[in-house]
Amino acid sequence: MAKQYLDANEQAIYNIQNIIKDENIECDFEWQDNYIFTQSEDEVMKIKKEVEAVNSLGLNCEFIDKIDVPIKVQKINEVKDEIIEKENKSINIQKPILAGIKFPKQAQFNSYKYMLGLANAVVTKNRGTIYENSKVIDVKKDNGEYIVKTEKASINAKFVIIASHYPIVNFPGFYFMKMYQETSYLIAVETNKELFKGMYINSEEPSISLRTALYNGKRILLVGGMKHKTGAKINLENAYKNLEKVARDLYPDCKVLFRWNTEDCIPLDKIPYIGEFSNLMPNVFVGTGYKKWGMTSSNVAANIITDKILGKDNKYEEVFNSKRLKPIKNYEELTNMVKEVGNSLVINRLRKDDEYLSNVKKDEGKIIKIDNEKVGVYKDKEGNIHAIKPYCTHLGCELSWNNLDKTWDCPCHGSRFNYQGKNIYDPAIKNLEVYDIT
Ligand code: FES
Repeated sequence: MAKQYLDANEQAIYNIQNIIKDENIECDFEWQDNYIFTQSEDEVMKIKKEVEAVNSLGLNCEFIDKIDVPIKVQKINEVKDEIIEKENKSINIQKPILAGIKFPKQAQFNSYKYMLGLANAVVTKNRGTIYENSKVIDVKKDNGEYIVKTEKASINAKFVIIASHYPIVNFPGFYFMKMYQETSYLIAVETNKELFKGMYINSEEPSISLRTALYNGKRILLVGGMKHKTGAKINLENAYKNLEKVARDLYPDCKVLFRWNTEDCIPLDKIPYIGEFSNLMPNVFVGTGYKKWGMTSSNVAANIITDKILGKDNKYEEVFNSKRLKPIKNYEELTNMVKEVGNSLVINRLRKDDEYLSNVKKDEGKIIKIDNEKVGVYKDKEGNIHAIKPYCTHLGCELSWNNLDKTWDCPCHGSRFNYQGKNIYDPAIKNLEVYDIT
């Protein structure tokens, strides 16, 4: 299984390179070595075992004890380390690299430019049509065919592929019981110093990734990480600050150009779900749970699902089997998920909130009580009130306020809504109910 998983992802890199060549897509594709490193003694043995495991599967990776990133190598005293770590909660560049793995000949490219190239190939070369702004709200079986309903029209189809990030169909399938979403953050930084080669990520938590990209012909630094479960009730203010601290520690002259965050679907057993959606919906396929590995996983999914529709075998389909019966190996996360759903569906709803509208400051969001009912309110910078019913339109969990993005986020499966109640992330597809409060 591990070998199949590795081979499928390695093969996907070459498939993508071939598509880029065949379709003439300008998307900054380049071969780069990839490194996982650690600054923690506890991780060194794991790194050694990982090197052995990967090599036994036929990919030649190397054990290393230094990397090209300008992280200092002199040890400072343990007490000071501890203080810096607590404040920083990310890579401490004062600590030495203790061990790492080099995965040679990996690749990176600009996925937005690649996607535009694919869309162009569909429309111009193959005379296909792509419909944007046509959100699917339901998929129903009818006389051996499927009716795919959008907000404006319905389409009859023999085959349906649900590739909507998190599946929007709850029953059958039950993907909401075996997958959650994680938010992570990224900043793009420019510096006058020469940047390193390669792509880097540390193995301990919180994990931070470092890589470069081309922007307007110049190489810039991308620093990513600070992941957390979407909708978690934590202080989000430090997410970008910590990434910026890492960038400034490495390149003191640097200037932040962009910052953004995104969500990823994480299966409980960490393997994507690719293939048939459910025994009860034959001819419906799914590709989801890419676990931040979407560039190669989406290519794997495209090939497996194409082969399935054409009635051909695919040598990788077994490892990604979306109908696998024992998808839940991660009992810790399963327990967290069940607890979170229970809290959000029952406990939080019964919780007595003592917050009132007068307690909400400008540019702040809170769940308050009005006439004995819970209401989510955001008071904008001008003092205008935006009020919503604070229950997710997916399966009803209580939402939490995200003060960084001014959104209402669901801790159960990661749906998100803007402060005006508009749905912006699946699996929910409906907007929130809005209240008029003066
Ligand atoms: S995303 Fe499932 S209940 Fe909110």
